Amino acid sequence: MSQLDDIMQSRRDTRHFTDEPVPEHVLEKALQAGHWAPSVGLTDATRYYIIKSDKVKKAIKSLFLDYNEKASDLTDDATQKSKYKSLKLEAIEEAPIGMVIAYDRSVLNSFTIGTVGSNEAVKFSSVCAAQNIWLSLTEQGFGMGWVSIINYYQFKKILNLPENIEPLGYFCIGKPATNYDNQPMLQQLQWKQKSELPAVTEISEINELVQTQLQIQKEKQNATPQISAESIQTKIDQKTKPLGSLGKLEKIAFQIASVFQTLTLTLQKPHLVVFAADHGIANQGVSAYPQNVTRQMVANFLDNGAAITVFCQQNHIQFCIVDAGVNYDFPTNTKLINAKIDKGTQSFLTTSAMTLAELELCFEGGKNTINTIAKTGCNCIGFGEMGIGNTSSASALMHILTQFPIEECVGRGTGISMDKWHHKVHILQTALSNFDGKPDLKSKLAHFGGFEIMQMAGGMLAAFENNMLILVDGFICTVAFLIAKTFSPNIQKNAIFCHQSAEKPHQKLLQFLEAEPVLDLDLRLGEGTGCALAFPIIQSAVAFFNEMASFESAGISQKED
Ligand SMILES: Cc1cc2nc3c(=O)[nH]c(=O)nc-3n(C[C@H](O)[C@H](O)[C@H](O)COP(=O)(O)O)c2cc1C
Repeated sequence: MSQLDDIMQSRRDTRHFTDEPVPEHVLEKALQAGHWAPSVGLTDATRYYIIKSDKVKKAIKSLFLDYNEKASDLTDDATQKSKYKSLKLEAIEEAPIGMVIAYDRSVLNSFTIGTVGSNEAVKFSSVCAAQNIWLSLTEQGFGMGWVSIINYYQFKKILNLPENIEPLGYFCIGKPATNYDNQPMLQQLQWKQKSELPAVTEISEINELVQTQLQIQKEKQNATPQISAESIQTKIDQKTKPLGSLGKLEKIAFQIASVFQTLTLTLQKPHLVVFAADHGIANQGVSAYPQNVTRQMVANFLDNGAAITVFCQQNHIQFCIVDAGVNYDFPTNTKLINAKIDKGTQSFLTTSAMTLAELELCFEGGKNTINTIAKTGCNCIGFGEMGIGNTSSASALMHILTQFPIEECVGRGTGISMDKWHHKVHILQTALSNFDGKPDLKSKLAHFGGFEIMQMAGGMLAAFENNMLILVDGFICTVAFLIAKTFSPNIQKNAIFCHQSAEKPHQKLLQFLEAEPVLDLDLRLGEGTGCALAFPIIQSAVAFFNEMASFESAGISQKED
């Protein structure tokens, strides 16, 4: 056995240290080993921060304790919980040296070899460095322990790390007090057995990519309606109220009766689907938030902690969340619907956000999601989205589809400053003038699109094919609707525009579509919140249409002239 094999086998994740200090030369040698590690495109984006101060360690320990509590709450199994609580999963205060290994994601601001598949390659490079350090410390008779049980957001704040610096975790370094009987500590304590062999599978076949065509909606609506517009209007007008006095509610009821071709309305199994994805353009400083927020918000949706999940619960709407292309590997045991096309689009400043094949996959994925929901008997579906950077994509697409000047298609998104707004307009202008692809619509949609936007458009087409009521949320969702409408012009008869967003271009877009929004509450959150808030009003339209007495049934005299 080689010396390298020995080092790799004896390397342990260490949580028990002696008091012995770590000599400077040991740390230096380990850091040099880290620096020898490979990095994608030779980015050298790994950054190291050394922590010796007790005060800093104490603050980090308290972050750990907070999250460790959260972790132990994740199991309902009392035995597992108590076993988990007994595990020592850090040595933050005891280890003489603490280290933060991080990567600087600002390297993505300029062209970087090897990050086209996933810009996580920068993070992976730092993991290579961490492993080299681990091995070097082992070779020198020292040890390291990786602490990942912390709220990274607070961790960054406490350490004053700049926005572009993303830590892998906190690393405890010192002289090991034990070798855990030459096995992982978690195995020694019978928490889990390490698998005996590496999991290796040879792949010799490929999955033929099924390419579907964007289906053009069959013009079902051309068929003569069985329930005439007059009979619907008569039913509304005969209610015990002055003509038209229920305003927009009357229009909504009329629309629902026309769509469902019935004089007795029901909204069955209402659903709201949020499509989430990341955007390469987010790396050009067009948003007030970093890209990581997309995946953090997905976690928040899954924990029922977001505005939309609260409103859906309040209004008894079934909530679903789709990973259309978030730059993150989610665990597989969540309620997330996996329709991931890729880990985020490319930045359309320099290249096409997605390929034409990916665009087709988006439409197909969106349709599959909505078809599955339609099969449950749902006839009313709201669309929402989450994706840092997606207002930029939506603005470019709005400009392409409406020909409005780009400045009129750009809003303040997540609340960017005026300076950032000018920068965003400039980036979009540059991106639009850089476009040298084919002039057909699909090529432009692929170039400037987002995975969640295109899946929403595909989903809306499927909702129309299933004759569902389509609840449209704010700016980004309306852009997705506009895309769906270019493929199926009659779709609008099934669409209810739930609100007018505070995002300036949304008002313009609604006017362009001649759409009347139900609400105007200065919302600019997305997530489908406008749909969930408008839903009780739509229910009220259904209720008055079905249940309100008519002049005849109530024996009330009608207006005389
Ligand atoms: C990315 C990563 C994060 C980890 N986070 C923690 C942690 O927060 N706390 C902990 O006690 N161990 C942590 N570990 C250590 C693993 O549990 C440990 O590596 C595993 O049990 C195998 O043990 P060994 O490293 O001794 O072979 C982490 C390891 C990795 C690779």
